[in-house]
Amino acid sequence: MAIDTDDEIKAPVKVRISEKLSKLGNDVQGSQAWSSIFRPGSIFRKGYTDSPRNRSYVIMNSVMYHLHPVKVKRHAVKVSYTLCLGGLTFFLFILLTITGIFLMFFYRPTAAAAWDDIYNLQASVTFGLLVRNMHRWAAHLMVLTVFLHMARVFYHGAYKPPREFNWVIGVILLTLTLLLSFTGYLLPWDQLALWAVTVGTNMMGYTPVLGDQVRFVLLGGFDIGTDTLLRWYVLHVLMLPFVAVIFMAIHFWRVRKDGGISGPL
Ligand code: HEM
Repeated sequence: MAIDTDDEIKAPVKVRISEKLSKLGNDVQGSQAWSSIFRPGSIFRKGYTDSPRNRSYVIMNSVMYHLHPVKVKRHAVKVSYTLCLGGLTFFLFILLTITGIFLMFFYRPTAAAAWDDIYNLQASVTFGLLVRNMHRWAAHLMVLTVFLHMARVFYHGAYKPPREFNWVIGVILLTLTLLLSFTGYLLPWDQLALWAVTVGTNMMGYTPVLGDQVRFVLLGGFDIGTDTLLRWYVLHVLMLPFVAVIFMAIHFWRVRKDGGISGPL
């Protein structure tokens, strides 16, 4: 049989490939693993009809989507209402976690190694300078955005019932953000860091009654040294982020339980 053009050969091959792909798609969508991820009603499952009820069903039943509310008020998605400041703060926290993990690969928290490690990170690690600066700027920005977020919430009177509990959770988050910022400040072990921490811990030494004890606990001794560095490092990379994640989870859960973002006054 004579073959006239290339198209005549390609067309049946194309059909066969698309039939195979669609069969593969059906097999995957019919598998147990797929249905355990995408619950009934999901747009990714067969037989989905697009109706308001089905859309709610998708959100409620999907492991991927259930963190989102089924309905949001119009003003809550208007950027000019929240300025997305809470979301920005959260985004910066995630960015800080990712860049922070990168930095941990190259940093040892001892008086002998810390400064050299930071120097080498900038001088000889690929993207080291960039990632360090991203971490530093994101930290400064997070302090700024959390303050602005608090001001926005205050300005909208969103601290009033039923949101007073979430305001208190917010105050804890603000404290944690400031503590994260302060503990991170010591880690480069340069003159700026040493004197900032000397001044800071001396001030805390004036706490009524327990001043000396507070200072001793914060420094891990009587003076700033490797013990202080290790203590603040563990607080910075482990304990404070861990506590912050827990409080953020409570914070977001409360936003939902308090009926979403407060409306215009
Ligand atoms: C790590 C710090 C924080 C994060 C990641 C965070 C995140 C968020 C997010 C994403 C929202 C949803 C609305 C929006 O984006 O504005 C929100 C709402 C809220 N936040 Fe924060 N927040 C933080 C700190 C604070 C602080 C310091 C306060 C107050 C002291 C606060 C009080 C509130 C309140 C009361 C709401 C509900 C606002 C409303 O209904 O209009 N948050 N937060």
